[in-house]
Amino acid sequence: MILKQLTTFGALITTAVAWLPWTDKGVVSRNGTNLFASSGGKIRGVNLGSQFVFEPWIAMQAWSAIGCKDEKSEYDCVAKLGQDAANKAFARHWKSWITRNDIDEIRRYGLNTIRIPVGYWMMEELVRPGTEFFPQGGIDYLARICEWASEAGLYIIIDLHGAPGAQVPKNAFTGQYAEKPWFYVDHEYKRALRFLDWMTTIVHTNESFRNVGMLEVVNEPVQNADETTSLRSSYYPDAFRTIRGVERKLKVHRKDYLHIQMMDKLWGSGDPHEHLTDDYYAAYDNHRYIKWDANVRVSKDNYISTSCRDRVGSNWPLLVGEWSLGVPEDIQETPDWKPFSNKDFYKKWFAAQVMAYEKQQGWVFWTWKTQLGEFRWSYRDGVAAGVIPTDLNSVFEEDVCR
Ligand SMILES: *[C@@H]1O[C@H](CO)[C@@H](O)[C@H](O)[C@H]1NC(C)=O
Ligand SMILES: *[C@@H]1O[C@H](CO)[C@@H](O)[C@H](O)[C@H]1NC(C)=O
Repeated sequence: MILKQLTTFGALITTAVAWLPWTDKGVVSRNGTNLFASSGGKIRGVNLGSQFVFEPWIAMQAWSAIGCKDEKSEYDCVAKLGQDAANKAFARHWKSWITRNDIDEIRRYGLNTIRIPVGYWMMEELVRPGTEFFPQGGIDYLARICEWASEAGLYIIIDLHGAPGAQVPKNAFTGQYAEKPWFYVDHEYKRALRFLDWMTTIVHTNESFRNVGMLEVVNEPVQNADETTSLRSSYYPDAFRTIRGVERKLKVHRKDYLHIQMMDKLWGSGDPHEHLTDDYYAAYDNHRYIKWDANVRVSKDNYISTSCRDRVGSNWPLLVGEWSLGVPEDIQETPDWKPFSNKDFYKKWFAAQVMAYEKQQGWVFWTWKTQLGEFRWSYRDGVAAGVIPTDLNSVFEEDVCR
């Protein structure tokens, strides 16, 4: 197993891109522990889903506690509650959903990375008063989490998950339930660029953000290359100019630049690299939910063998920034697929996915915790159920893909 990992790692060193968090960024905990040593430099992480961008299906009880049981998104929720009441309700959620204990538990489980989805509305002056409704005050809670995570030695990816105007229609992950994806126009790109400028400044000037190494400039754009031409020709190159401009102004050393992350070509929004003239510290993301891949025949054996030989990236370096153990809705509660009576399958499938994604730069599971009462979308529950090992290297020793 050690040989195999070293071989993979050896192959990485020969590529032109210097990139690994443990070689370039020197990400360490307060007491100097480097969590990447045991993973051979691979990213092993979890998303903090529903912390700053609430998706009600993940946590219906918490959503009800905020007072928005029947609302579809944060936008609808804040419009209903009113600004002041919403600010108070969301502050209670931010304080309780992800705590210092969660961060410590993440580290204890052998993980080294968190990806934090945020919305553009965290920069409050971007929100149009009277027509856009979002909770205020999130940045202080983001700083708290980043401080805890930096103390613990975790690598941090901040992800612009909810873009101005919404990058996809009718999906709470954008923060709103928009009829149309209104993001793909100049004036919305400008707002997103102001967000990137603001966030880059914070990351490089505020000590609590010291372990943030990557900024994803937009999560999951529309999967249609024709609808996203200006994303590639204008937004991505401008995102580089904006972020690097801030860094030059702040005299940040090139080695400490942020990695700028875009969705991989395989995601389906075209090749993000198409118009980049500067790709220093570029990084790519793909999300792999086999349950939504109509080309994959639904059987347990096929899920495992598909994962074992899965090709998940075309740009480099790439990490699989979201994936889960979710299976198609029409079968998920049938005897063959119910989670607790099929743990052996889910354990193997978890292992197969880890092996595939570590052929790339690594992975970030969706998500850390849920209120679904089962483990297929919850890393924490997966560990509790014995489906996910805390010694992640054991996956390579057992080698379900053999
Ligand atoms: C650093 O802290 C972690 C977690 O508390 C602990 O496991 C590790 O042994 C410590 N390392 C050193 C060098 O003290
Ligand atoms: C870092 O940012 C947070 C959030 O704005 C703020 O509360 C904190 O005081 C800042 N810390 C420093 C050292 O500037």
